[in-house]
Amino acid sequence: MTGNIVIKIRGVKKYFGATKALDGVDLEIYENEVHAIVGSNGAGKSTLMKTLGGEYVPDEGKFYYLDEDITGLTPFQIQKKGIQIVHQVLNIVDSMSILENILLASPPTKNVVLDWKEGKAKVKEVLEFIGIDFDLSKTVGSLSISEQQFVVLARALINKPKVLVLDEPNSKIGLEETEKLFAVIRKLKAHGTTTIYISHRIEEIYQVCDKISVFRDGKCIDTRATKDFPQDELVTMMLGKKLDVFFPKANVETGTEILKVVNLKFKDKINGVSFYVKYGEIVSLVGAVGAGKTEIVNSIYGILRPDSGDILIDNNTVFPNHSPRKAIKIGIALVPEDRATQGMIGEYTVKNNLTAINMKNISKNSFIQLKKEVKLAQELNDKLSVTPNDINYIIQSLSGGNQQKVIIGKWLVDPYKLYLLDEVTAGVDIGAKSEIYQLLGDLARGGAGVVLATSDIEEAIGLSDKIIILFKGKIVREVDPKVTTKDEILSYIMGAEKYAQ
Ligand SMILES: Nc1ncnc2c1ncn2[C@@H]1O[C@H](COP(=O)(O)OP(=O)(O)OP(=O)(O)O)[C@@H](O)[C@H]1O
Ligand SMILES: [Mg+2]
Repeated sequence: MTGNIVIKIRGVKKYFGATKALDGVDLEIYENEVHAIVGSNGAGKSTLMKTLGGEYVPDEGKFYYLDEDITGLTPFQIQKKGIQIVHQVLNIVDSMSILENILLASPPTKNVVLDWKEGKAKVKEVLEFIGIDFDLSKTVGSLSISEQQFVVLARALINKPKVLVLDEPNSKIGLEETEKLFAVIRKLKAHGTTTIYISHRIEEIYQVCDKISVFRDGKCIDTRATKDFPQDELVTMMLGKKLDVFFPKANVETGTEILKVVNLKFKDKINGVSFYVKYGEIVSLVGAVGAGKTEIVNSIYGILRPDSGDILIDNNTVFPNHSPRKAIKIGIALVPEDRATQGMIGEYTVKNNLTAINMKNISKNSFIQLKKEVKLAQELNDKLSVTPNDINYIIQSLSGGNQQKVIIGKWLVDPYKLYLLDEVTAGVDIGAKSEIYQLLGDLARGGAGVVLATSDIEEAIGLSDKIIILFKGKIVREVDPKVTTKDEILSYIMGAEKYAQ
């Protein structure tokens, strides 16, 4: 696989105060390759892409595009060259339509007036290329996170880029959608587009990428052809140490039913779902986008009011007047899917985010005991290895995965009896994933019930006692993780129409 070098990066450094986000990066990306960039949370992947894209100016070093020095150009100039970056945090306007969001980057104009007709034709062409059918007038806010991901992808593709950067496009999408994304990447490759692909889903990288570069502590420490990079070696290199136990095999004595969901219905999203979770049990909900996972956990937590059916906690119905406040009071915790908006206060420090909901642990006579607050926050930061390990860091300055760790940490302080976790490991690196899995194992061993809504099938198989497979708001199958396979689950998820009555 030889060809022209399309992007050359030389000695790039970028510092934020004392944090060396990029500490001398050298890297070449060749024309027409799919090039993965992997590394732990905070390794510098997103910072490198923001610097390539012109959002940051490097403190030192150079970027070249087809031998032309492009260091210091503006994001607009970089895009004009043919480099498109889809960032980790989706940049969309909820209240605007799909059409408007896709055209946001480059509105087609005719004599300074927006040319909607041409715009619409271009958008349709791109969506056809991607293989997705949207009602363009719908607002983006009404779409699922994974559908939103495809809107942003369409926006990046509308000007037919030469180089496409995808910063964790699949951290929140299911297997089926990931297949679709990979089909697009392969098609782009056939059309001569180079893709730089950042992801924490190592297995999937092996399916679609030609080369892999490993980042650690702001440096690119190795680049190899995928076929020459055994997976365990890759993980060891990323973490700087061997990863031992990944899934803690929790052999837990289960108790009575903590949660019982009976014939739950909500619009066309949940179509008569019944299941139970016992004390000490981890139950996974898997399914494609639109299968109803998030709606089910949100109903249990009282965010969403189902049309009919019942939810019982310890055999008592939570209705009428269910609400998140009541949920917390009876011992239910939720780690929501959309953590950026629901889970954190961006401009607060890590410490304040960690302790915001744990006031009862640290306040006495309504005074916050500062010492206790600091201790609590520091313990959590240590437990989840948040980097930089500084509880006074403003949370939005942390890398994506480290933000996730803090938000997850918030819920692990007070003991709850039921944990509802929605895509809890999306975006966290493999080291932190293993730490979170240990924590979940501990929760179950401590007697709590856990509902794990996940699009990561390996995680469901590795952790849970029971896997419930959903399709269009219905349970199509319940499988035993001890005897099932990834392929079996996938076949139910994809071909589920056959099984759903
Ligand atoms: N705007 C900022 N202000 C201060 N520090 C920052 C800022 N952006 C990034 N950092 C720091 O730079 C380092 C690299 O962050 P970056 O977001 O590039 O990591 P990443 O490899 O993309 O991680 P992840 O896998 O979690 O997304 C981190 O230590 C992060 O806290
Ligand atoms: Mg990142």
